[in-house]
Amino acid sequence: MEYFEMDITEKEKDLYGDQLILLTGTLTEFLSCMEMLRRYRKAVTGRDPVSSCRARIKKADSMTEKLRRMGLEVCRENALQKVYDAAGVRIICPFVEDVYSMVDLIMEIPGVRLFQAKDYIASPKPNGYRSYHMIIHFPLRFMGEAGADNSLWLELQLRTIAMDCWASIEHGLKYKKDISNQEFMKKELKRCADEIASTDLSLSTIREMIRENQEGRDGDKCVY
Ligand code: GTP
Ligand code: MG
Repeated sequence: MEYFEMDITEKEKDLYGDQLILLTGTLTEFLSCMEMLRRYRKAVTGRDPVSSCRARIKKADSMTEKLRRMGLEVCRENALQKVYDAAGVRIICPFVEDVYSMVDLIMEIPGVRLFQAKDYIASPKPNGYRSYHMIIHFPLRFMGEAGADNSLWLELQLRTIAMDCWASIEHGLKYKKDISNQEFMKKELKRCADEIASTDLSLSTIREMIRENQEGRDGDKCVY
């Protein structure tokens, strides 16, 4: 089981209050669902479709900034109901096909309702950013009366290892605003993102070739 950063300070306690238990509960339950799905897929196909899952609760400073940006009052209710990423999980997969198969599996979890999906893999952002984003309503099973709606919003970001590499580096570089040649840097970053996408495609092709080759040669089920 992969755990999430419990970096909760007085600021988060002030903002989320008694709802923190629901946020951590949602993340814990979702991660345990992921764990089971991964084991199930591994048993069926012999291969884990996920390399890692990282969960986090949005920092109070970041939530406050977002609420202000949205022109909303900074309060617990708005943080949990008007903003959809107080609880978030990033799912990193080896191959692009794994991203889409995880999306399908997540949608089959009983009680999960999709609120929004943005496929930035099929339609990358102008800067080259690629990822599959989902906002789901995730039901909490561990508390509340039967039939009561105990679900919370959960933001999911699914991407390949290669896409995650680019996004992590690009995120770090965003803060370095006081540099000259901004336009050149943007173009270079976009070029890197496109090269990474092309590498992802080649890796999938290689995997497919190995699988076909292996299956054709000895009839064995190949795990790649
Ligand atoms: P936020 O207000 O940031 O949540 O954006 P949004 O509500 O318009 O949603 P969007 O799907 O555009 O982005 C949600 C999250 O995806 C962000 O908070 C980042 O974690 C990630 N993300 C989106 N665009 C980029 C990008 O260009 N670079 C990187 N590194 N991450 C991005
Ligand atoms: Mg966000």
